[in-house]
Amino acid sequence: TDEVAFTGEHQAGIVTPAQDRLHFVALDVTTKDRDRLIKVLKDWTAAAARMTAGRDAGEIGAVDGIPEAPPDDTGEALGLPPSHLTITVGFGPTLFDRFGLAAQRPAALEELPRFTGDTLDAALSGGDIAIQACADDPQVAVHAVRNLIRIGMGAVSVRWSQLGFGRTSSTSTGQATPRNLFGFKDGTRNLKAEETGALRDHLWVQPGDGPAWLDGGSYLVTRKIRMLIETWDRSSLTEQETIVGRYKGSGAPLGTEDEFDDVDFTSVGADGQPLLPTTAHVRLAHPDTNSGARMLRRGYNFVDGSDGLGRLNAGLFFIAYQRDPRTAFIPVQRSLAAQDEMNEYVRHVSSALFACPPGVTGPDDYWGRALF
Ligand code: HEM
Repeated sequence: TDEVAFTGEHQAGIVTPAQDRLHFVALDVTTKDRDRLIKVLKDWTAAAARMTAGRDAGEIGAVDGIPEAPPDDTGEALGLPPSHLTITVGFGPTLFDRFGLAAQRPAALEELPRFTGDTLDAALSGGDIAIQACADDPQVAVHAVRNLIRIGMGAVSVRWSQLGFGRTSSTSTGQATPRNLFGFKDGTRNLKAEETGALRDHLWVQPGDGPAWLDGGSYLVTRKIRMLIETWDRSSLTEQETIVGRYKGSGAPLGTEDEFDDVDFTSVGADGQPLLPTTAHVRLAHPDTNSGARMLRRGYNFVDGSDGLGRLNAGLFFIAYQRDPRTAFIPVQRSLAAQDEMNEYVRHVSSALFACPPGVTGPDDYWGRALF
């Protein structure tokens, strides 16, 4: 079947196989009423359970209600299968300033620091609540987000929204490695569902890490990264491979044969220089360069029209999940921001951090129940 289980120990949409399409939205909570917010979270959970099973958002459905009332589903997914839809929810640092939640805010849930080279747009960054909808059909992903926004009307408003096509990561060894808009295989050395021990150490928040409501959850970092593809396309193949640190065709690390070969840090070429330059992306992002840091990447390509200067506004909507951003995304991005040759070809334009609660266990449970 093409249905992904909604309930479980962890939220779906993190380590479950990455789908082809994304609709991500960050919301501001506009209500001051704590009970109203809880009601929205309960209604969202029930609607998400239905939609991920391929059903209408509401119990009555798009066309079976009384003609005098607006339907409880918007209808554009009628007749479409679940398409591996997953809906994943996270809470931003700003949510905890209100609703009596201050004491529940984990120390790791703090605005990300400013990194060298950041050109962030505040209007495209942050948010109180994140909804990540992934599916193999874009209509199914957009339908899911749209209906949750409709259900939350009057309590939440859209801060920013991002569509993505073409996953840029694999999250399971059963998936082929896709390519990003630089044309390189992306996700080769990602954290994968099969690495149970590594998921415990690097992906899921463990008891004792912080407030108990987040046990079994994960931290979500998003970065909208504009890729200057026109400049990239004028650089030579060798230069591109030197910047990434992998061969474009096979995806193998420089100096090795196979995509899944270990990165070779030590071999030197005839000129006495390391085969893998010290400024290569995969060297700087590698766990050995970052005190063992690992994260689960789950990003998507985007093309958002023109940049107004005759170029495509295109890039990578980077998504990474981790047990603690202070020992994963932050040190890795610091290392990349300082030295990565790729910086000449990318601009980080938006940034956000969310704490994603554990999975919903059944019909009486709802997203964030342990928090409220
Ligand atoms: C690896 C591309 C941004 C972290 C890779 C690989 C490519 C790539 C082609 C090699 C294949 C793989 O192992 O997945 C890009 C592009 C980016 C970008 C085009 C921006 C547009 C980032 C950012 C981070 C990051 C912002 C985190 C701060 C990593 C990590 C690896 C990796 C951890 C695996 C390193 C290893 O273990 O060998 N990236 N990346 N990347 N990237 Fe990026």
